[in-house]
Amino acid sequence: MKPSLLNSLADRTVVGGMAGFTKLGYALRSGKWNQLPRMEGRTVILTGATSGLGRAAAEQLAALGAHIVLVARNEVKAARAVEEIGASADNPNLSYEIADLSLTHQVAALADRLLAAHSEIHVLINNAGALFEERQETAEGIELTLATNVLSGFVLTNRLLPRLQESAPSRIINVSSGGMYTQGVSLGNLQWDKGEYNGAKAYARTKRIQVILTEMWSEVLAETGVTANAMHPGWADTPGLEVSLPAFRRLIGPLLRSAAQGADTITWLAASLDMTWQSGGFYLDRQPHMTNVLPGTDLTPDQRTELWRMLTKLSE
Ligand SMILES: NC(=O)c1ccc[n+]([C@@H]2O[C@H](COP(=O)([O-])OP(=O)(O)OC[C@H]3O[C@@H](n4cnc5c(N)ncnc54)[C@H](OP(=O)(O)O)[C@@H]3O)[C@@H](O)[C@H]2O)c1
Repeated sequence: MKPSLLNSLADRTVVGGMAGFTKLGYALRSGKWNQLPRMEGRTVILTGATSGLGRAAAEQLAALGAHIVLVARNEVKAARAVEEIGASADNPNLSYEIADLSLTHQVAALADRLLAAHSEIHVLINNAGALFEERQETAEGIELTLATNVLSGFVLTNRLLPRLQESAPSRIINVSSGGMYTQGVSLGNLQWDKGEYNGAKAYARTKRIQVILTEMWSEVLAETGVTANAMHPGWADTPGLEVSLPAFRRLIGPLLRSAAQGADTITWLAASLDMTWQSGGFYLDRQPHMTNVLPGTDLTPDQRTELWRMLTKLSE
């Protein structure tokens, strides 16, 4: 699906595009939306489901009857989320798996457990993510933003691919950010080990990488019945936003969307029959948008291959 002329113009003017990130954009576009189809019998793996957008998406998907596996790092929060969401949606088909997604060995073990436990996986939602003010490294020696926002989804997706293909039609959904418009990828400084670290830029670069990987999966998986799409939620009032961007939250407060409004496009990408065969897009409010607005933010095919090689090496 291609972006409409109107959306392309808004994306290009940046300010016009950013107005759409607020709850006004949601209000403008959501008026004519159709009800989503039921999802009984569809197995969804959803990361970062204990808070914010992931929690809201879990509530929406549970209400549609999906079988959901919530992936979380905190067992108390995970168990509470399963109980509360299951009770409120009257959906007994919720379970959880525990993994710290910033550690590739835990992601690999998580994938093995998911493959052993679920003979079908129809939807994988890579939602967990964060912005870190200071540069940090994981116990595996990988810069934390890259590990959490990129490597986790890279490893989980690639390991679950055979099962997604067996379960086709199936879908990969990557939760990126509108912040990715501002940044390209620095292949020579992927882990920000050169120069002064900037948390917001490091975050935006990883969100750009998620979009590029989505496009690469979409190409590799053409004709397999597995689609890959990325989305961004606009600006939504979540615990994550409150912690990482408190000044921004104070500034724009009344214009922020709710987590449910931000999560709507995740749920739509997972459920909509219109999206069964659409792949490689970048969505906000159920509509496709441009990915490159500023010069120098895309990667050439050779650079994309190099990025894939580097991520593979980092995840070994
Ligand atoms: N809110 C926005 O306006 C906005 C805008 C653009 C993009 N996004 C993207 O949307 C996604 C969700 O963000 P949010 O605003 O909902 O943030 P949030 O409220 O902080 O939720 C993030 C979720 O990810 C989980 N998580 C983080 N690191 C993890 C790790 N190492 N292992 C396992 N789970 C981990 C968190 O678990 P805990 O509950 O244990 O902390 C939580 O469930 C992120 O990818 C973010 O980049 C958000």
